[in-house]
Amino acid sequence: MARVIYVNGRYLPYAQAGVHAEDRGFQFADAVYEVIEVRGGRLIDEPRHVARLARSLGELGIAAPMSPRALANVLRETIRRNRVVHGVVYLQVSRGAGPRDFAMPPAGTEPTVVCLARSSRPEAQERAAEHGIRVVTMPDIRWGRSDIKTVMLLPACLAKAAAAGAGAKEAWLVDRDGYVTEGASSNAWIVDASGQLVTRHVDDNILAGVTRATVLDAIAREGYEVSIRPFTPEDAYAAREAFITSASNTVMPVVEIDGRVIASGRPGGLSRRLRQIFHQVATASS
Ligand code: PDD
Repeated sequence: MARVIYVNGRYLPYAQAGVHAEDRGFQFADAVYEVIEVRGGRLIDEPRHVARLARSLGELGIAAPMSPRALANVLRETIRRNRVVHGVVYLQVSRGAGPRDFAMPPAGTEPTVVCLARSSRPEAQERAAEHGIRVVTMPDIRWGRSDIKTVMLLPACLAKAAAAGAGAKEAWLVDRDGYVTEGASSNAWIVDASGQLVTRHVDDNILAGVTRATVLDAIAREGYEVSIRPFTPEDAYAAREAFITSASNTVMPVVEIDGRVIASGRPGGLSRRLRQIFHQVATASS
């Protein structure tokens, strides 16, 4: 089946799906994006992703490229045309194209919109979750507005590459005060010695994960204790459990950090439970 990508109003075969060489997304990382899980053909937590996209655009002063209804349509049509049942849909909006200039382009410049959808294999992800993943920590060298979901992802790519080089799946980024901010493409969690779930507060330095928000809902539903506070790698080494959250992983247990085995080295009970009930709590829209 020929796969297609939505680019500025058209669904194009991959080989033809290009954007302008002077697109500001390409030259300045002047673009924002969302990754939404597709499960059983339905969009998981779509309202939260759409709200975050609107916020990212607003923070950068990029005009909304289309109405919410049209956007909903593009996401669905991209999923449908690519026959994605389980996977993700990716949406990117840049400020548009114009002669390379640090100054912002004139008002009325059309944003560039790209949407693609990709299938994943749920069995492979379940298998990974049964074993848990390894994580390594490294300095957080990103800019001061990591709350905006921009495509400025070079630090994240470098961190992931370093993690892969060390045999790990994810990098946990550590700020100058020695606290874990978040993962290179996920939010970071531990369960401390008292059994409390711990994740860092949201501010300019981390992305307010949609999955994180839904996991907090799940925690409230189950009546688990949670503490919203920063933690250090040392706290994490001594934790009962650790896990990451992101749209493409939902809840993924972490069993090793910087070569230290976490607790028994098996995914923890709370992590497994939260993974199990995640989709009961998340919204799913067709
Ligand atoms: N990553 N923190 C960062 C830096 C992220 O890039 C992501 C998401 C998250 C988790 O956010 P959410 O739960 O809304 O997916 C946290 C996506 C999946 C990506 O870049 O592929």
